[in-house]
Amino acid sequence: MKTNWKIMTRVMLLGVGLATSSVASAEDTQNMGAAVFNGKGELMRPEGFRQWVFLGAPLTPNGLNNGSAGFPEFHHVYVNPDAFAVYERTGVFPDGTVIAKELVLLKHGKYKDGSYDAPSGRGYFADKPNGMDVMVKDSKRFKATNNWGFFNFGHHAPPYSEASAAAPAASCAACHTANAEKDMMFTQFYPILK
Ligand code: HEC
Repeated sequence: MKTNWKIMTRVMLLGVGLATSSVASAEDTQNMGAAVFNGKGELMRPEGFRQWVFLGAPLTPNGLNNGSAGFPEFHHVYVNPDAFAVYERTGVFPDGTVIAKELVLLKHGKYKDGSYDAPSGRGYFADKPNGMDVMVKDSKRFKATNNWGFFNFGHHAPPYSEASAAAPAASCAACHTANAEKDMMFTQFYPILK
């Protein structure tokens, strides 16, 4: 029988195509938490950030801020795992670093300072999610704000906004530039980034 080279070549190309697409999907899973922008250049709300690396939970309760803290909740902060791995190796946040900060309300106790009695003692304990802010490092896109874009997805109970436009420098970047210890990040408050 005569070999049909045309068909053989097609089958081989199909094989290469399948192999390439399976490699691409393996890369996708490694790239967990990569920033996704829509056609308007807005950041899409990160999915699955609770599976990322947990950096810490700063807390600025009303009870310690004359009853009116700007962010009276726990600030649960996460970083995408690939970026964390590079940071651990090099001490540098690579382009593609995404930091998600979810605000989490405190459980209300009987005390004026907002504290609560738990079997472990009196203190502050987490209740429900109540807002989300995100930072993305991209030295091309966000050159004007020290290589980081800042995004607010709402300060309220979920669902948060689907997408968010980068905030003006004065709303976010300025304070981080002035006060954050390393590359716009408050590394001074996260021992695992030391
Ligand atoms: C007045 C200063 C100030 C402003 C304005 C500000 N931040 Fe922050 N931000 C902080 C401080 C201090 C921390 C770390 C301690 C904490 O969470 O209380 C922080 C933490 C963060 C974190 C976690 C990573 C880190 O660096 O600790 C993200 C994400 C973040 N801010 C996003 C934003 C966004 C988005 C805006 C604007 C909508 C914003 N911030 C405005 C002071 C500020």
